Amino acid sequence: MSPAARPVKTAVLPVAGLGTRFLPVTKSVPKEMLPLVDRPCIEYAVAEAVAAGVERVVMVVSRGKEALADYFDRNPLLEQHLEEKGKEEQLALVRSLSDMCDVVTIRQGEALGLGHAVLTARPGVGDQPFAVLLADDVVDAERPAIGQLIDAWEPGRAVVALMEVPRAETRKYGVCAGEWLSPDRMSVSAMVEKPDPADAPSNHAIVGRYVLPPDIFEILRRTPRGRGGEIQLTDALAALAVQGRVTGKVFEGQRFDTGNVLGWLDATLHFARKRPDLAGPLAEIIARHS
Ligand code: G1P
Repeated sequence: MSPAARPVKTAVLPVAGLGTRFLPVTKSVPKEMLPLVDRPCIEYAVAEAVAAGVERVVMVVSRGKEALADYFDRNPLLEQHLEEKGKEEQLALVRSLSDMCDVVTIRQGEALGLGHAVLTARPGVGDQPFAVLLADDVVDAERPAIGQLIDAWEPGRAVVALMEVPRAETRKYGVCAGEWLSPDRMSVSAMVEKPDPADAPSNHAIVGRYVLPPDIFEILRRTPRGRGGEIQLTDALAALAVQGRVTGKVFEGQRFDTGNVLGWLDATLHFARKRPDLAGPLAEIIARHS
């Protein structure tokens, strides 16, 4: 489906987290502003959503996260400076960021979990299906991962991105079980947030990409605190799964968990090696270090 024809026009980016896995830098820099090469992680998520037809991004932020909205806003002083110096290329680059899409921010006053963050976005979403992208999960794919989910979406249903993980790692993820409708599509009947390997219903983990129906908000409002004392999106989705309304989609693409140092290094090298201007010199640097 072409991006413009896709039915999901709003994406929620929960970016209120404190980034404790990446301290100390995240003490004063939002983790989503850490660069992969020369673009912050958040830009990869916004670009992915826009490439899938999204026109409006709702960022759920917290105190100290102003840099995120600023990045996608106009910067008249910088633009004027670049204009006066005749730096056309950089001017176009800076402007292209504010032209990507509409960005609105909503504050999550308390850190009560991912489910609570999504519920906080409600006034910015309205009564329509919407996408959720967790910016930590960066996916490099030929077709945007969230676009793959939107293409697998049907009215009234939710779609979650699935990836096989080693059983020993299930406690890092939401895990789904159900019936396979095709090699890449599961009709999900059970969902558990971060189960111990012995209790995991399968080794199919949720990656941070979702398409959600608007009635998820009412379900989230009634969802009690779950794992970690937080309101979990997985628990609200489990209520939809019981109604047979959740599709699991195994997506094509390479996923990086940039919320921890090694995953971020992995992603940094991956994207740097794809850059024609950097690949050669980078290979020399790596050789020097090995
Ligand atoms: C969140 C979700 C989890 C999902 C994961 C994907 O967990 O709660 O279900 O598998 O994202 O990255 P978090 O990593 O934010 O703790």
